[in-house]
Amino acid sequence: MKRKKITVIGAGNVGAACAHWLAVRELGDVVLFDIIDGLPQGKALDLFEASPIDGCDVSIIGTNSYADTANSDIVIITAGLARKPGMSRDDLLEKNSSIISFVTQRAVKYSPDAFLLVVTNPLDAMAYVAKQVSGFPKNRVMGMAGILDAARMRSFIACELQVSVEDVSAFVLGGHGENMVPLARYSTVSGIPLTALMTSEKIDAIIERTRNGGAEIVSFLKTGSAFYAPAAAVGKMVEAILKDKKRIFPVAALLEGEYGLSDCYVGVPVKLGGQGIEEIIELDLLPAELAALEKSHLSVRSLIERLKI
Ligand code: APR
Repeated sequence: MKRKKITVIGAGNVGAACAHWLAVRELGDVVLFDIIDGLPQGKALDLFEASPIDGCDVSIIGTNSYADTANSDIVIITAGLARKPGMSRDDLLEKNSSIISFVTQRAVKYSPDAFLLVVTNPLDAMAYVAKQVSGFPKNRVMGMAGILDAARMRSFIACELQVSVEDVSAFVLGGHGENMVPLARYSTVSGIPLTALMTSEKIDAIIERTRNGGAEIVSFLKTGSAFYAPAAAVGKMVEAILKDKKRIFPVAALLEGEYGLSDCYVGVPVKLGGQGIEEIIELDLLPAELAALEKSHLSVRSLIERLKI
């Protein structure tokens, strides 16, 4: 059986952490690409040298040549700038949009049948750029954010209630920014509604911390942004696609009328399987929840309009 091929564009903090996560779980051969000469080669070799210890039989190579990425099943895009303290994800818009446009053009030339998974911020607008530039069908172009935002919320809930993180589920919709929409109503602990276990004040505090989850990490790191949890979230999406698991995840997807919204990437629940985004699930949202999603959609749309694409 031929192993799957996964390319990670950008061998920085997120890219290298993704490569590690994917290799350890033997999800496929990994190609780590970067424009900096030596960086992907060095990190890939280091990761490969860990493989006997981890017991994973996959190849991991680093490269500065797109030819080495040819015929990838999945291309993960992490190239671009990360934010620093005081910056919002939206401050990265212009610079990262030209990087995403450039790397997408080249990557899809070599891997015309791949799934594109965008991680670079501002996430929803960058996924839109990748969709426009690639011309790929919408089931094959998506952005990672919702699993990460939900994981942050899950970890805060587990910590507060002193229960296993495994038993906590949470749902965060909308764009990956200050206007994200954490849905307490769809958050449970082993099926028990969160509202039965916590005061509304506590829930509100957790929602607020979730919204600021990325900024909280940036304020500690000072020179960059989060990478372990983002990489784990990417890994779960890759696994769902390559193993055709049909997981229900919040994923940044192109909306064409769902939730009354269109021409925009926004985080919504999707069925993620062998065909990529196989279905967008439309929840019956309360008016306030829908209004929050609409607000989030508007803020992503304003970024897309700034890009004039
Ligand atoms: N082609 C390939 N790689 C590029 C290009 C390009 N045109 N431009 C930049 N890069 C590479 C850089 O050389 C660097 O190695 O992208 C990498 C980015 O790595 P980091 O600076 O460590 O940033 P990281 O923390 O990995 O975040 C990357 O993901 O979560 C988002 O907001 C985050 O937008 C940021 C992205």
